[in-house]
Amino acid sequence: MKVDVLLGLQWGDEGKGKVVDVLTPKYDVVARFQGGPNAGHTLEFGGQKYVLRSIPSGIFQGDKINLIGNGVVLDPALFKEEAEALEASGHNLKDRLHISKKAHLILPTHRVLDAAYEAQKGKSKVGTTGKGIGPTYTDKVSRVGLRVGDLLHGFEEKYQAAKARHEAILKSLGFAYDITEAERKWLEGIRYLKEFSLVDSEHEVNGYLRQGKSVLCEGAQGTMLDVDFGSYPFVTSSNTICAGACTGLGVAPNRIGEVYGIFKAYCTRVGAGPFPTELFDETGKKIRDIGHEYGAVTGRERRCGWIDLVALKYSIMLNGVTKLIMMKSDVLDGFETVKACVAYKQGGQEIDYFPYDINEGIEPVYVELPGWNEDMTKMTSEDEFPEEFNAYLSFLEEQLEVPIKIVSVGPDRAQTIVRYED
Ligand code: GDP
Ligand code: IMO
Ligand code: MG
Repeated sequence: MKVDVLLGLQWGDEGKGKVVDVLTPKYDVVARFQGGPNAGHTLEFGGQKYVLRSIPSGIFQGDKINLIGNGVVLDPALFKEEAEALEASGHNLKDRLHISKKAHLILPTHRVLDAAYEAQKGKSKVGTTGKGIGPTYTDKVSRVGLRVGDLLHGFEEKYQAAKARHEAILKSLGFAYDITEAERKWLEGIRYLKEFSLVDSEHEVNGYLRQGKSVLCEGAQGTMLDVDFGSYPFVTSSNTICAGACTGLGVAPNRIGEVYGIFKAYCTRVGAGPFPTELFDETGKKIRDIGHEYGAVTGRERRCGWIDLVALKYSIMLNGVTKLIMMKSDVLDGFETVKACVAYKQGGQEIDYFPYDINEGIEPVYVELPGWNEDMTKMTSEDEFPEEFNAYLSFLEEQLEVPIKIVSVGPDRAQTIVRYED
């Protein structure tokens, strides 16, 4: 068997959580492979709304195994909060949620360091989620990180050493902080974490594949936030692309099957950094209002703009996308026309590829298409799609050269139209 991977092609928040939940019945296992509680994955069904941060979005479907892979960074305090809320709403996790011993732990001082580094950057700050993601991955790469497996051996000593190291850095930066309460909660989280199955996830995943079990890997963030290929330095600190599923789970590249690339019918970004198709006018505001474009966890306003096909083509190339999934189609219901960026103008020249630097001087070149003035949220089959919407889909498929398999027309699990079965 191979693993399928589902990941975001834009700047995150494409709707990954919703679609993972929709696809889960077809899989035995759902696994997160990178990122951490910087993610906020929203699922809606049965009139209920859930936001997941570290727990995979397959958790709501009965007997499925959910796995937090080695590439993830885990904050025990936030994990406890998230898991306990799910347990309180009747979802038993303990026998279905496995956590890699090789996943790195986010310490309270990592969060303080995140804030300190942002403060130091002043105007050029990244606008991180403040969850300690960058400092935790930094420690991992510097070979001084604390891992989930350390809970089982020599934890106290390793924790105190890491904390002392962080405190020395914070002192040198002159950054004032108090972690008393955060540390108390964190240590409670550590005790709670021990109640879960802490596993050698690379053996577990490959064992599932040998047994013929199907695995869906759930990406977090989006390709344009990838630490290597995103809009650096305004990115997250992990590889969000498909290759991240290999390193973040211990799955060999030749074990990758379908790659589902998910994108919004338009584009959003939260935090700082370049965004070539960003709209600063009434249209951008309209998209934000209709699309409820506010962060799932932080509530931060998301920046909105038209779809960027130059960036999407780049993402498709980097990930080897085999199937596309288009989200939030309904949000564009009430527009006279819709625009798609098909090229950039940089230094007076038109380019159709994603350049080294998009931080300055990029001007989008648009194609304008007729809008569809129909409410799509109640539609259940593609036979009901307005003609203009079909034209938009065909245009995108032609440009992107990958079929759009799923169209989402609302936040609920049920508002999902699968255009064809394989
Ligand atoms: P994720 O991080 O990729 O899982 O996405 P988020 O949960 O951060 O953001 C997606 C938002 O769009 C959530 O509020 C979803 O409930 C909502 N959503 C998902 N699909 C659709 C859709 O097709 N239409 C509308 N209107 N909302 C959607
Ligand atoms: P999901 O999985 C959107 C952004 C932050 C910031 C940059 C770095 O819900 O799509 P970090 O805290 O990771 O160091 O922040 O990345 N960012 C996200 N934006 N969706 C996310 O996750 C994000 N996770 C991080 O806003 O610009
Ligand atoms: Mg999100």
